[in-house]
Amino acid sequence: MLKRTVYCGQLRMEHMGQTVIVNGWVNSYRDHGNLVFIDVRDREGLVQLVFDPDIHPEAHKLARTVRCEWVLGARGMVRPRGEGLENPRLPTGKIEIIVQELEVLNQAKTPPFEIDTAAQVNEELRLQYRYIDLRRPSMLNRLAVRHRVTKITRDYFDAHGFWEIETPMLGKSTPEGARDFLVPSRLYKGHFYALPQSPQLFKQILMMANTDRYFQIVRCFRDEDPRADRQAEFTQIDVEMSFVQAEDVMRVNEGLIARIFKEILGVEVALPIRQMTYQQAIADYGIDRPDLRFEMKLKDLSDIAADSQFQVFTSVVKKGGIVKGFCAPGGGDKYSRSDIEKTLTQFVGDFGAKGLAWLKVAPKESGEGLELKSSIAKFFTDAQQQEIIGRFDASAGDLVLMVADSADVVNKALAPLRVRLGKELGLCRPDQFEFVWVVDFPLFEWNPDEKRYDSLHHPFTCPVPEDLPKLQTDPAHIRSQAYDLVVNGSEIGGGSVRIHNPEVQAKVFDLLNISRKQAEDRFGFFLRALEYGAPPHGGIAFGLDRLVMLLTQTDNIRDVIAFPKTQRGQCLLTNAPSDVDQKQLDELNLRVQKHLHQLDPES
Ligand code: AMO
Ligand code: AMP
Repeated sequence: MLKRTVYCGQLRMEHMGQTVIVNGWVNSYRDHGNLVFIDVRDREGLVQLVFDPDIHPEAHKLARTVRCEWVLGARGMVRPRGEGLENPRLPTGKIEIIVQELEVLNQAKTPPFEIDTAAQVNEELRLQYRYIDLRRPSMLNRLAVRHRVTKITRDYFDAHGFWEIETPMLGKSTPEGARDFLVPSRLYKGHFYALPQSPQLFKQILMMANTDRYFQIVRCFRDEDPRADRQAEFTQIDVEMSFVQAEDVMRVNEGLIARIFKEILGVEVALPIRQMTYQQAIADYGIDRPDLRFEMKLKDLSDIAADSQFQVFTSVVKKGGIVKGFCAPGGGDKYSRSDIEKTLTQFVGDFGAKGLAWLKVAPKESGEGLELKSSIAKFFTDAQQQEIIGRFDASAGDLVLMVADSADVVNKALAPLRVRLGKELGLCRPDQFEFVWVVDFPLFEWNPDEKRYDSLHHPFTCPVPEDLPKLQTDPAHIRSQAYDLVVNGSEIGGGSVRIHNPEVQAKVFDLLNISRKQAEDRFGFFLRALEYGAPPHGGIAFGLDRLVMLLTQTDNIRDVIAFPKTQRGQCLLTNAPSDVDQKQLDELNLRVQKHLHQLDPES
């Protein structure tokens, strides 16, 4: 077999005159009758092979038979391309290989789609033929970046005294707020393991065991519906440290992120990364993961709205709701009335808003200054209009968009609208990165359906010390020592200082309505461990997939996972999930009641 001496993609002018062997796939071929050209592709790139019947007739003859995606070995001499035949778009574009010997290592069926145009092909087909889809340079590059990120991570943590320790995949449920994947036990029939939603409890117990600094690049499983940035099976960079406070965890971990952005993209992350309280984030951006690449802050307009003549606004405020809005610079010129009243109104409608009120800022028709224009402008006095213009520091051509409803609906509708307009108005670039630590999250949120508190993060998060007395008196207003790292509106990591006091932990379980008996059944092992000398400790987990998405500028999580699941949780390559044999079910003492879902991806 002709074995590679150099990767195709690495050949340059400096190899001129050398005899080399390359291995790879046929990317394209051109048969000019006389000369035959084949572009061969390997992991590192493409190179052009030339076959000349007058110099090497055998190789030329064989070359005329090859087809796309056949696998080749070729030996030949590197020479400069002829005058005017250079390809400046290819790193190897100045040279070619004049082939002396060609070996067909394997043939290939005609691929179901062309590699060069695969990006436009239906994703289901690409997932079904993942091995062909992954041959695309852009896909391979994402895998390469992912590899480099994990390599940098391991080196970084090693240099900072962290140990990589594995925790079990077959375990007991850890609450991270999602549904568990269960694995039936054969030896203990009727009993189940849960796949980890995260290694949370194990990593805390590792701190109690004096491992001091732990990290792991670990698969986590959450049985929720996959989305553009969410898979049921995903990877965390998971970290825990003993004898630390929140700041210590943030400093070490932002150092890792800065190293990754520097090494992969050459982007300098200014350290320390700024912090913003949860309250501030909600007030200014309507969301706890603000995109800070552009301003366009939300402002509360309830006071002006309450005094206006616009019934929708006055009645919402009267009922305890709020009116909030933001001002899109240049939005008045960009968006027509029908853009706003159809497209944008429908967009916020999907987030629960009952309407979208708008005001265009324009020069006053009578005299100096600015005024507001829209079908509802008449409900605002000139003074009120000036107050709105002043609050946003608005200019002619701007567009003020407002929603009136409960604070929750208002924020949920305006936050994504702000991001959409930020992008559409060109206020941010995809290669710009704005980092922020969001801190001071509430410890609990009230669950009106279940009439109890839920943990905002998870039940092991420690309250801010001065808020501890509120555990008895005012749980809704306890701040937690949790922190999320947010980049361009994406939450790439989150963690907290943990509770290390068994009484505080028991009290938190009480407030979550987890009875002593339930707590004992589910977390007895953990509560016991807290009683045997738990050090103060804290940690964080980054979503590796989301990090690589940012680094490779894709908003599809499946692009950064070699073998992902579809939005419907299927692996189209292997056809998982699938039926199992009756024998397997019998061994597990399981009976399937009925097939509720067709597994046919077309259905
Ligand atoms: P959390 O649940 O916030 O924290 O998860 C940490 C990070 O993991 C990523 N992530 C996901 N990525 C892809 N698909 C998903 N379904 C998914 N869910 C989460 C996010 C998120 O920021 N044990 C705690 C961490 C800790 O407290 O140390 C935890 O798992 O980027
Ligand atoms: P209407 O009075 O329903 O004709 O609405 C007049 C304008 O107010 C339309 O542009 C609606 O989209 C907008 N609107 C209606 N309800 C709300 C609301 N809750 N918040 C913001 N704007 C609204």
